[in-house]
Amino acid sequence: MSTQPAILLPAPAFGHFRAWGVLGNAHDVRVALTHRKVDASIIVGIGPSFAASLRATVVGLEPLDELENGAVVVPVTPHALWAYGRGHTPAEAQAHVDALELALAPYVLRTEDVAGFKFHGGRDLTGFVDGTENPKGEAAIAAAILQDGPLAGSSFVVAQRWVHDLAGFHAHTRPEQEAMIGRTLHDDVELNDSPASSHVHRTAQESYDPPAFMLRRSLPYRLKVDGGTEEGLYFVAFATSLDVFNRQMRRMAGLEDGIVDALFTFSKPVTGAAFWCPPVRDGHLDLSAVGV
Ligand code: HEM
Repeated sequence: MSTQPAILLPAPAFGHFRAWGVLGNAHDVRVALTHRKVDASIIVGIGPSFAASLRATVVGLEPLDELENGAVVVPVTPHALWAYGRGHTPAEAQAHVDALELALAPYVLRTEDVAGFKFHGGRDLTGFVDGTENPKGEAAIAAAILQDGPLAGSSFVVAQRWVHDLAGFHAHTRPEQEAMIGRTLHDDVELNDSPASSHVHRTAQESYDPPAFMLRRSLPYRLKVDGGTEEGLYFVAFATSLDVFNRQMRRMAGLEDGIVDALFTFSKPVTGAAFWCPPVRDGHLDLSAVGV
């Protein structure tokens, strides 16, 4: 039994994110899902509702905490299934989720579809490098993959679409922008004296007790919506528990010490969902550890 191979790969040049609700019988979906090969081209996640309809016991898989602190709202928009296709081109990334969808077609309904892309070698659309403080090597494995117990080899993932107000962001001076993030724009150096509201100050992984390490594999996106375009970051983070994400998000939302992450001055999450990424055996998802 092993981990879905793409989880530990660097973010791809292009990613395609798609989620589904389940219409048909959970058993039929499981058969179709486990029949497909899951190789390095795709990551598949199972949401709490689908796990429940399978009567699978995935300890720790629950909908995310829905948070609110005045104008700061962190919505929860769960899905039954989720996939992250990877490619050297947008078409290639999409083809991998299309193939999965075709296999599931009679039983699922598409609920989210977002094409992501690497921007300037790994920067957010604000221009700031995203991913620098990700754990690496053995530390990445320890942060993202459960090592022991019945769920060994699997991972939890959060997918959250953030919409940026880039015009608002660019109205700030460079020093103001850097103070919001807590790092310098061009050379990505951590500021010594960043305010407590800076994103890096809020999320410093070792500052949590216990430490809150996660492996982020987010990508920028631009999406056509009624009446225009939405753009921002499709945030994706793998961790050994959803608690890691919930704790970080609570602090970002100001629910710990009243200080809201400066990210919220120019961006907001509009979706948010949690999934469990089962391990694979002989290249297929293996649900045996959760009693299915
Ligand atoms: C609009 C959405 C977001 C943007 C644009 C963004 C951007 C960034 C940037 C530029 C950095 C600094 C470079 C790096 O270490 O990667 C960073 C760090 C980080 N972010 Fe975010 N981020 C977003 C949302 C989130 C969310 C929702 C979480 C978790 C709940 C999060 C967790 C982290 C963590 C853990 C770090 C590393 C902190 C450290 O240990 O130094 N980010 N992010």
